[in-house]
Amino acid sequence: MTDISFATSLRTHQCGALRVEHVGRTVRLGGWVHRARDLGGLVFLDLRDRAGLVQVSFDPATAGADACALAASVGAESVVDVEGVVAERPAAMRNKEMSTGDVEIRATSIRVVGPADTPAIPVARGRSEQLAAEELRLKHRHLDLRRDELQRNLMLRHRLLQRTRRFLSDAGFLEIETPVLTKPTPEGARDYLVPSRVHPGEFYALPQSPQIYKQLLMVSGFDRYFQLARCFRDEDLRADRQPEFTQIDVEASFVTQDDVIDVAEEMMRTLWQEGGSPFPAGRVRRMTYADAMERYGVDRPDLRYGLEIADVTEAFRAVEFPFTATAIAAGGRVRGIRIPGGASLSRKQLDEIDAVGKSAGVRGVLRVKSVNGVVEGAVGKALGDDAASRLGLQDGELGLFVAGEDRITNPALDRIRQDVALRLQLAPEGVNEFVWVVDFPMFERDLESGTLSAMHHPFTSPHPDDVGRLKNEPWTARALAYDLVLNGTELGGGSIRISDPTVQRSIFALLGIDEETAQSRFGFLLEGLRAGAPPHGGIAFGFDRIAMVLAGATSLRDVIAFPKTTAARALFEGAPSPVADGDLEDLHITLESVAE
Ligand code: AMO
Repeated sequence: MTDISFATSLRTHQCGALRVEHVGRTVRLGGWVHRARDLGGLVFLDLRDRAGLVQVSFDPATAGADACALAASVGAESVVDVEGVVAERPAAMRNKEMSTGDVEIRATSIRVVGPADTPAIPVARGRSEQLAAEELRLKHRHLDLRRDELQRNLMLRHRLLQRTRRFLSDAGFLEIETPVLTKPTPEGARDYLVPSRVHPGEFYALPQSPQIYKQLLMVSGFDRYFQLARCFRDEDLRADRQPEFTQIDVEASFVTQDDVIDVAEEMMRTLWQEGGSPFPAGRVRRMTYADAMERYGVDRPDLRYGLEIADVTEAFRAVEFPFTATAIAAGGRVRGIRIPGGASLSRKQLDEIDAVGKSAGVRGVLRVKSVNGVVEGAVGKALGDDAASRLGLQDGELGLFVAGEDRITNPALDRIRQDVALRLQLAPEGVNEFVWVVDFPMFERDLESGTLSAMHHPFTSPHPDDVGRLKNEPWTARALAYDLVLNGTELGGGSIRISDPTVQRSIFALLGIDEETAQSRFGFLLEGLRAGAPPHGGIAFGFDRIAMVLAGATSLRDVIAFPKTTAARALFEGAPSPVADGDLEDLHITLESVAE
């Protein structure tokens, strides 16, 4: 694996690195007792370190009776210091599944240097043994991290970090660290706040991203910047969200959207190569936000399978069909997916899919089957003999349709599409479908209040073709913003920034941020933009998400050494935790009540 010598004053080799070429050498090893077998006289220990396992045998004739007795009694997960000679295993005893399986160590001595309590969770597991419950594993993270899978994941993470650094540095990007104690950065989540002891009543915020700093670095002339940045967001957590995570944060000057996309794509190609996963040849495809929403109901579509959304409003427009009539009359649409082979889904499965749609907000999911070209039931009756062709249903296809406003039906269709793909196993293994989603809207509009919020963040440049829309219908304006999506997961997102302070002020105004607030929250950015700002833009990737995908893991927790639970707790170290009254006093804070 490597030419590095891991020899130190206390060991000659790593356990898992011994091979046939070492046969005959006297070695001194340090490692954890993975498993012990006492064959009555002969004792075998599997010794483990980060490089893997090696078998150590204790024979009374060479090691002595005391060493054999100690080896037989040493507790699992204790650290031992072993000396012995590397020997080739007899042909029949070789283990092809172990990288050290051609050799074993004939021990001459053993010392227990780090005795272990009985492990709270098992590290060594038989093939059929289940993992301990995740909560227990997070509580005893130091033991769980000894497992082969997590060792491999963290080693991969290390390699990806180094590869990222090398790629960006070789492309002329400078690694610059930005503050962690800072002012709030608006990225759509709540801030983690840190009280100041020396300035009573004032708080720092932990950065949701280094966004403003990286823009200021462009103003200062650093041209190409990157950072493996720790970000903190107090938001609802899921398997692909942690309150504390790492971004590959990038910014460059004198660039267009295409320039940023080119570098980002090349970096992804490099990382996928490092992770040993296929990256499609040629350029990653692009899709507009509008197209993604129309065809997949979501701005991060999973393109490993079809199931595109079809609009069948016209088929229902002139017919009296209660399920669709009210929705159409209110200006809504009837849309759905057509599932080849979907006729095989059972009634129970269809009921479950209906529940998925309802939980996402639609009133129900209309199921339509075409059998031998005929659509039976109420829909067939309402639409007539050519119902199948009017709904575009091929023979044997199942149509699942919902009715209503797009803002309700889009999320429901997205969920239904994913649910069906999972049930019918439509996503092929090992396929990576990347897509750049571009032309995001500048704003999201709250329908009740009419207020606008930034779709990406407030520093994103409007699309040059849509600047004219900002005055009268800003919610229809597109932004120079882009996301990279892989198999339905958003890996990263960025934008070209506003470099003109007047435009920045007008965008703040549209977002309802008055002059005074703009000055107090973002004055340092506005001042920077007035100091001679180059055109600039950038992107940030969720590094943990990239590591998760390349490790084949399903949760960020499996690629972060000490992660938080979905309730934002660190179970191992026990954070967050109450602090002593005196400490709060120093911070000028009094607690009125603590809700459990
Ligand atoms: P954004 O908010 O889209 O953009 O974040 C960029 C990427 O960071 C990852 N990410 C997360 N990963 C783990 N846990 C989380 N809670 C979490 N939140 C986000 C995602 C996401 O795509 N400043 C802008 C970037 C820019 O404009 O350059 C920003 O932070 O993979």
